[in-house]
Amino acid sequence: MKTILITGAGSGLGAELAKQWANEGNHIVLVGRTKQKLEGVQRSIKNGSSSIYTCDISDSKQVAELMEALEKNETVVDLLVNNAGVGAFGALEEIPIEDIHQVLDTNVKGTIFLTQALLKTLKKGGGRVMNIISTAGLKGKNHESVYVASKYAVRGFTESLWKELEDTNASATAVYMGGMDTPFWSDTDHVKDSSRLKSPSEKAKQIIHLDEGQKEIFIDR
Ligand SMILES: NC(=O)c1ccc[n+]([C@@H]2O[C@H](COP(=O)([O-])OP(=O)(O)OC[C@H]3O[C@@H](n4cnc5c(N)ncnc54)[C@H](OP(=O)(O)O)[C@@H]3O)[C@@H](O)[C@H]2O)c1
Repeated sequence: MKTILITGAGSGLGAELAKQWANEGNHIVLVGRTKQKLEGVQRSIKNGSSSIYTCDISDSKQVAELMEALEKNETVVDLLVNNAGVGAFGALEEIPIEDIHQVLDTNVKGTIFLTQALLKTLKKGGGRVMNIISTAGLKGKNHESVYVASKYAVRGFTESLWKELEDTNASATAVYMGGMDTPFWSDTDHVKDSSRLKSPSEKAKQIIHLDEGQKEIFIDR
């Protein structure tokens, strides 16, 4: 049994990974900003166990509080899944400044804060960081400049971790996938009909199936 901390576990891919990994008997630490969403996912976990921690990962103070709470509860994380992410789409000159901050603060800084905070534990226990990127971390896309920039940053961060962790017990995995039908698209018309995209349940299944601790997992390219 592993203890797997998943950020953004209240919906979409994070929720599906949580349910499927829990089903395999792992303990899942569900992290997100909205308690009710995390509680909903916790209720849907039939096998395995889970715990809930609310945290805005873009806020380093909240991340430090999360670490304190985990320590207090003697929760030792084996696998950190940096999954929480937000988008901002459209012509660059039309993207509000606050949205640019939110995308970079969540996708990039949030991933870095969580990884930095847990690295000592992961190194000690032979643990791993899994960063959920996107095909947006592989190629530029029209009207996705800010989102793509954030995902390239996470890719660069992950590839640098490979070097930094070379002589340690810890490791890092980058995961690349294309569109999924999740609430990610609910505040934008960038994707006209998200119901045509693949289900997050299917993508979670593929990730878990393909995951053998390797450096990269390509679900789509
Ligand atoms: N959907 C796609 O087409 C697609 C394709 C490729 C890659 N991805 C990536 O897959 C990951 C999961 O996305 P998804 O599609 O499953 O979207 P989603 O359903 O919107 O899930 C994202 C989760 O992140 C949480 N979150 C957002 N900001 C946060 C913050 N500051 N602190 C903590 N939690 C935060 C949200 O919950 P709260 O608001 O309650 O915090 C939400 O549950 C993202 O990294 C996304 O970039 C998505």
